[in-house]
Amino acid sequence: MIEIPGPGEGAHRVPEGLRAPKHVALIMDGNGRWANARHLPRTEGHRQGEIALLDTVAGALEAKVRYLSVYAFSTENWRRSPAEVKFLMGYSRKVLRSRRDQLNEWGVRVRWSGRRPRLWKSVISELQEAERLTAGNTKMDLIMCVNYGGRAEIADAMARVAARVERGELKARAINESTVSKHLYLPDVPDVDLLIRTSGEHRVSNFLLWQCAYAEMAFPKKPWPEFRREDLWDECLAFGRRERRFGGAVDKA
Ligand code: FPP
Repeated sequence: MIEIPGPGEGAHRVPEGLRAPKHVALIMDGNGRWANARHLPRTEGHRQGEIALLDTVAGALEAKVRYLSVYAFSTENWRRSPAEVKFLMGYSRKVLRSRRDQLNEWGVRVRWSGRRPRLWKSVISELQEAERLTAGNTKMDLIMCVNYGGRAEIADAMARVAARVERGELKARAINESTVSKHLYLPDVPDVDLLIRTSGEHRVSNFLLWQCAYAEMAFPKKPWPEFRREDLWDECLAFGRRERRFGGAVDKA
């Protein structure tokens, strides 16, 4: 297992004046293309992706990001070849098992967001074990989105709201945006401030659709296996220079 320098142990320091977004979401894209460009199997890209993920987690801690959501496996990823699905399931189980103590030492709270049906039971067990081990940590929540889809999450929230209406606990006319937010998988997690998708693709791909309503978006060209904590800091610095209006406007004339 490759050791990743923990927070404060790396060669580089967080740039002066960086004000971290509270919630950063990562679409770790480009693993397959990175590997194939080197005549390696796609799975090798996912292996390198583990290193990129750990380094980015350490960098997020250093920058004082409070919530980091990562798209590890989507509800659409079941369409990949059976061999790649099998690899991704086995690999996420391995990553969770082999890295949980380190994440715990770093003060990270691991949380799972996603759907239970179809997801391998052994992966759910590892997610739950990591959640249990790290439940008391408060430095940063690392939200592992596994078998996650934004539309699935909203549909599941709708079903839970409808069940409450059926039981007479809620009036249909009282449903508002806050009702929907409260029935998402992790209702305490705030909206996304910055969404980063690597490898130059400009798509949201069904990730945190509700929570990204006002997210700033960054699409660095690097493929995920090459992404490191310095790249996260660069995106955070650029984020700090943007003006966020949340639908409002200020006349500057
Ligand atoms: C997207 O690249 C990446 C994934 C679907 C998996 C993300 C997995 C990791 C970063 C591995 C480490 C961590 C865990 C928990 C498994 P892609 O395969 O879509 O790349 P492509 O667009 O070049 O084909």
